[in-house]
Amino acid sequence: MSTQAKIQELTAALKEHNYNYYVLANPSISDREFDMKLKELEKLEAAFPQFADPNSPTQQVGGDITKNFNTVPHSTRMLSLGNTYNKEELLDFDTRVAKLIGGIAYQYTAELKFDGFAIALRYTDGKLSQAITRGDGTQGDDVTANVRTIRSIPHQLKGNYPAHLEVRGEIFMHKAAFQRLNEERAKNGEEMYKNPRNTAAGTIKQQDSAEVAKRPLDGFLYQLAEHGKEELDHWDSLQRMREYGLPTNDATQLCNSIEEVWTFIEHWESARKKLSFEIDGVVIKVNSRLQQQEMGFTSKFPRWAMSYKFETERAESKLLSISYQVGRTGAVTPVANLEPMQLLGTTVKRASLHNADFIAQLDVRLGDTVFVEKGGEIIPKIVEVDTSNRSDDSVPTHFASVCPECSTALVREEGEAAYRCPNTMGCPPQIKGRIEHFIGRKAMDVDSLGEGKIDVLYQAGLVRRVADLYQLDKEKILGLSKAIVNEATGDERIISFQEKTVDNILTGIALSKSQPFEKVLFGLGIRFVGETVAKKLAFHFKTMNAVMAADLETLNAVSEIGGVIAKSVIDYFMVTENREEIELLKNAGLVFEVVEKQLASNVLNGAKIVVSGTFTLFSRDELKKIIEDNGGVNVSAISKATDFVIVGDSMGPAKKEKAEKLGVKMISEDDFADMISE
Ligand code: IVH
Repeated sequence: MSTQAKIQELTAALKEHNYNYYVLANPSISDREFDMKLKELEKLEAAFPQFADPNSPTQQVGGDITKNFNTVPHSTRMLSLGNTYNKEELLDFDTRVAKLIGGIAYQYTAELKFDGFAIALRYTDGKLSQAITRGDGTQGDDVTANVRTIRSIPHQLKGNYPAHLEVRGEIFMHKAAFQRLNEERAKNGEEMYKNPRNTAAGTIKQQDSAEVAKRPLDGFLYQLAEHGKEELDHWDSLQRMREYGLPTNDATQLCNSIEEVWTFIEHWESARKKLSFEIDGVVIKVNSRLQQQEMGFTSKFPRWAMSYKFETERAESKLLSISYQVGRTGAVTPVANLEPMQLLGTTVKRASLHNADFIAQLDVRLGDTVFVEKGGEIIPKIVEVDTSNRSDDSVPTHFASVCPECSTALVREEGEAAYRCPNTMGCPPQIKGRIEHFIGRKAMDVDSLGEGKIDVLYQAGLVRRVADLYQLDKEKILGLSKAIVNEATGDERIISFQEKTVDNILTGIALSKSQPFEKVLFGLGIRFVGETVAKKLAFHFKTMNAVMAADLETLNAVSEIGGVIAKSVIDYFMVTENREEIELLKNAGLVFEVVEKQLASNVLNGAKIVVSGTFTLFSRDELKKIIEDNGGVNVSAISKATDFVIVGDSMGPAKKEKAEKLGVKMISEDDFADMISE
């Protein structure tokens, strides 16, 4: 075989392997074999440059140094897209489309919105001739040499292509490649990159294409911009691009309605975490080329396409300081004070740091750049620390050693994550926290009192323990006032104890005396005694005296009361101040025993019922009360033993799936109301 033929053969074989590997994701030879063939070709081309193909796979290793990128005009403007952020806006888009099309049926394609940068690729006689960045939309940089290093972008088209062809798409870096690159940079003491998108965009602007080749980029094409005379519907054009060997994304879906698009969006909103690359939304396009042409463009966007942006879950900020909050049980929670930033549409200034171990694990220090995410919780949390900009005098964070409120030395019990302030009886936030808990909706339910008013009463020295509430004297509290500043908004609110306010407070407190025993028990705030445990204890022991008299063994014998709870109950009643408090509450006339109540009916006859979602006829608490009043039992989690679930709006999909799987009956609140009225 002649050298020329050998070069041609190797070139063709390597191109085919690249295609199999990068486009079909189905390699036909090992990486090692590939590298050996590539080396052989390199050698031959070096010796016989006159036979080398300008689009040779060896060029993908890079080598051309581009001093300055040439500016090249785009064949047609490279537009961006309008954005929608919720279902309502998406439906509005659909309404506009329907109106513009005027009563004729239409379809959408839904595709992923890749988070990289846009590129236009020109193919002349099937050969990659030019790659241009988006630039300002009218003209961009010629980055052909760099794009040639991207293995998934074919240098030669397959099939029956027109002489002039232009496709557009997105170039990006896979998450894993980004991570590897950053690890290497960290090892070399170089500055770390922020995210895959910026890194990809920065990479393509590198002057040295050999550098570009070291940072693996990938791409998907989503638009057939010039295609000779033949015009195709969008869905068909994606298929055609595939036939030409151009990488397109398989997740794309043809949809018959906006509801189908919505299902696609909902799926990818969560499934995107499993993708190897980042997407920041979904792009929807009217499928028919004719309809697209009819609809046209605004000055900025096509009227026939729209992007749906996922909420950004992560934002960057700076740790300014750490404050420590003391809860009612004395647990000290560290809170990060951050440089204000936007996250999911709200300004965030604070984030949870959980506990000392969490801080140590993150090794987060004052002044560090941090990444904050909003998970299911309301309070966002710091998930990552960028240490690259750390100054030399940065020091590791030491957890507070004394209580920020009362200066008592903090303690940490074995096996516990939290540091605690042991000054239970003298530490202000613990005292106020206990009172707030006591008057809470699930305990004594004094809704005329709240955090602010309790603070006023505390400051005035009128309440130091919950029993003091029942000794409040109208004359003494009338006229008290205090300005309270909302930390988040800076708004000032004056709390003043006018006649009417005072009357409401005192009436509320008086009414609380008839709250049932289990609520009183819960209101005491015994550690680990939540609402359910309080009920268990109350119904098992029937009276406060019996609960107080129970020893460890007796408590342990109660179903679902474990050793930790039992010990906590014993510890609570060992404390003299607590026993005094109980005595005072008893004298104040609180309910200290279970009053067997008359059931409204027993239609539910012990049925175990889960309430899930939100309702219109009743509130969740009302539903739960109706269940109990009619002989049913409220349970929180769905299991085989569950008799039925009352399903409201926005019941979680996981719960629904579980109920279906276990064959647990699901009924609506209307069905339930019918059942009870029977
Ligand atoms: S279509 C005229 N499809 O998002 C239609 N764009 O915010 C032009 N993008 O500039 C774009 N994935 O860089 C389209 N599947 C996709 C996309 C996509 C990512 C980018 C593209 C565009 C930007 C608009």
